[in-house]
Amino acid sequence: MSSNAQAGGVPVLVLKEGSDRSRGREAQHRNIIAAKVVAESVKSALGPKGMDKMLVDSFGDVTVTSDGRTILDEMDIQHPAAKMLVEVAKTQDNEAGDGTTSAVIIAGELLSRAEELIDKNVHPTIIIDGYKKAAEKALETLEKIALKIDPTSSDYLKKAAMTSMASKLIADYKEYFADIAVKAMLEVATKDGKNWKVDVDDVKVEKKSGESMSETSLIKGIVLDKEVVHSGMTKRVEKAKIALLDASLEIEKTEYDAKLSIETPDQIEAFLNQEENMLKDMAEKITKSGANVVICQKGIDDMAQHFLSKKGVLAIRRAKKSDMEKLAKATGGKVVTKLDDISPADLGYAALVEERKIGDDKMTFVEGCKNPQAVTILIRGSSERFTAEAERSLHDALCVIRDIIEDPRVVAGGGAPELEMSTVIRKYAETFPGKEQLAIKIFAEALETIPAILAENAGLQPIDVISELRSRHDAGETWAGIEVREGKIQDMSRIGVFEPLTVKKQIIKSANDAASMILKIDDVIAAGRMKAPPGPPGGGGMPGGGYPGMGEY
Ligand SMILES: Nc1ncnc2c1ncn2[C@@H]1O[C@H](COP(=O)(O)OP(=O)(O)OP(=O)(O)O)[C@@H](O)[C@H]1O
Ligand SMILES: [Mg+2]
Repeated sequence: MSSNAQAGGVPVLVLKEGSDRSRGREAQHRNIIAAKVVAESVKSALGPKGMDKMLVDSFGDVTVTSDGRTILDEMDIQHPAAKMLVEVAKTQDNEAGDGTTSAVIIAGELLSRAEELIDKNVHPTIIIDGYKKAAEKALETLEKIALKIDPTSSDYLKKAAMTSMASKLIADYKEYFADIAVKAMLEVATKDGKNWKVDVDDVKVEKKSGESMSETSLIKGIVLDKEVVHSGMTKRVEKAKIALLDASLEIEKTEYDAKLSIETPDQIEAFLNQEENMLKDMAEKITKSGANVVICQKGIDDMAQHFLSKKGVLAIRRAKKSDMEKLAKATGGKVVTKLDDISPADLGYAALVEERKIGDDKMTFVEGCKNPQAVTILIRGSSERFTAEAERSLHDALCVIRDIIEDPRVVAGGGAPELEMSTVIRKYAETFPGKEQLAIKIFAEALETIPAILAENAGLQPIDVISELRSRHDAGETWAGIEVREGKIQDMSRIGVFEPLTVKKQIIKSANDAASMILKIDDVIAAGRMKAPPGPPGGGGMPGGGYPGMGEY
C-alpha cells in the first residue's frame, strides 16, 4: 500500500517511508481475519473437555496451560487487531478473573459474523449499533435470571470455584482446592457496611514442587520462600518479635577507589576492627529494640549474621517487597528504612517463626500472626510445570470466589446462560426492521458458539446439541445446558455447575467492546519499525526496517 496522495497530479508524501497503510474494506477484512485467528487458537481450550496448550518461549521455557489469558500472553502476537483480542483477555482477567477464553471466542465470533453482513453491504455502524442493543439485552437477561445467594455460604462459593477449576489441569483435585480457596477467602473477607469486600492479593500463594497436589495446604500465617540466613542460627522462635527492615545490614562500598596509607600494624587492626564494630553496632540496634526475628529486604553481611546468631536472633535476607508489605499487615509491624529509627513499637508479632524443609528447599513459616487474617496457600505438585498451572487455576478460583462474595449472584454454566441470552435476543431482534434485525440476530448466534464449542470439545455433535438446547429454552428451561462429562443436556443448576454473574456480564462487555472497536476501524496506518539491532556500520539503520509481517496488515 502506498502512503501517497495525489494533489493536482503531484504526489504528496505524508507518511514516513516504510509506513504501511490499508484502508476501507481491505483494512476491515485484514483486522477481522487476524482477530479470528486469535479466537480460533483458544477454542479448543474451552470447557472441562478442552485441551491444554504447550507454549515454548524464545528461551525454550515450556508452559502448559488451558488458561485463555496465559495462552495469548505467551504467544508473541504482532498484528495490531489481534493484539486487541489479547487485550480482551487481559481486561476480562483483571475485571473478573475468569472467562477469558469465552470472551475471546465471542469477540472472534462477533467479528466473523459481522464480516458476513458487511459482505452483504450492511454498514459497520449498523452492526455496531445492533451489537450494542443486543449486548444491553444480554446483560439485562443475565441480571434477570441470576440467582441471589448468601455471600458467606461456602456451598455456592465452593461450587463456583469447582466449576472454574473443572476446565483445568488440576480438575482431579478441584474439590480439595476449592475447599482451601473458599476457606482462605472467607478468612480475609471483611464486612464493609452491608456488603462484603475481599482482595485476592490478601491470600498469599506459594508453590513448591515435590509431593502430590493433595499435599497442598492452607496455612494461617505467612509463608516465605526463604531460608534462615546463617546455618548456626536458631530455626525456631516462639513469641516472635519481628523487625521488618528495608535497610541493608552491610557496609556500603564506596563508589570510588580510595587509597589508605597505613603505617603501623596497629592501624591495620584498628581499621579492620572498625568494620566489625559497625556491623556489631547494627546487630545491637536490632536486639536492643527487643527483636528476636529480623526479616530484611536487603542483604545481611556474614559478620552481622554472626552477631545476630549469637544473640539467638533468626534472620532472613532479601525478602520480596510484596512479602514485606504482607508481613507488615499480618504481624502489625512497620517496615523500617533506617536502622537508627527502629523502636519496640515498630516490631511485629507472631506466635511462631520457623524454618521448615519443604521438598528439597527450606521455607520460613510465620504463624499465629497478630492479625489472624493472614493466610497462605502452599501449592505442592509433582513438577514445577504442574505447580505453575495449579497456581494459575487457583488464581481463577480465588477471583471467582471474590466475585461472588462482592456481588452474591450466580448463574449456572455449561452454556445455559449463553443460550438463554440468545433465545431472548432472537425474540428481541424481531421487533426491529431489516438490517438492524440482522445485526442483533448475529449477536445471538455468536453467543451460541459457547455451548456449541463445549459440545464439540466433548466430542458431541454441536448442531444436535444446539437445536435441542434451543427447543428446551423456548419451552422455558432457563438452565438447560450441556453437561460435558456425561455428554447430556441437563438442568445445570440442579447439578451445581455455578458461575459468578460478574464473570458472565464481563464476558459480554469485553467481547462487545473489542468487536465494536475493531469494526469501527477502516484505516490502518502502521509506521515502519526500526530494525533491532541497528544495521551494520554504514548500513544506515532505518529504511526498509518495517514491521515483521507488515505486508499482511
Ligand atoms: N461440568 C461442566 N459441564 C459443562 N460445562 C462446564 C462444566 N464446568 C464448566 N463448564 C463450562 O466451561 C466454560 C469455562 O471454560 P474455561 O474455564 O475453559 O474457559 P473460560 O472460563 O472462558 O476462560 P479461562 O478459564 O481460560 O479464563 C464455562 O462456560 C463453564 O460453564
Ligand atoms: Mg474458566
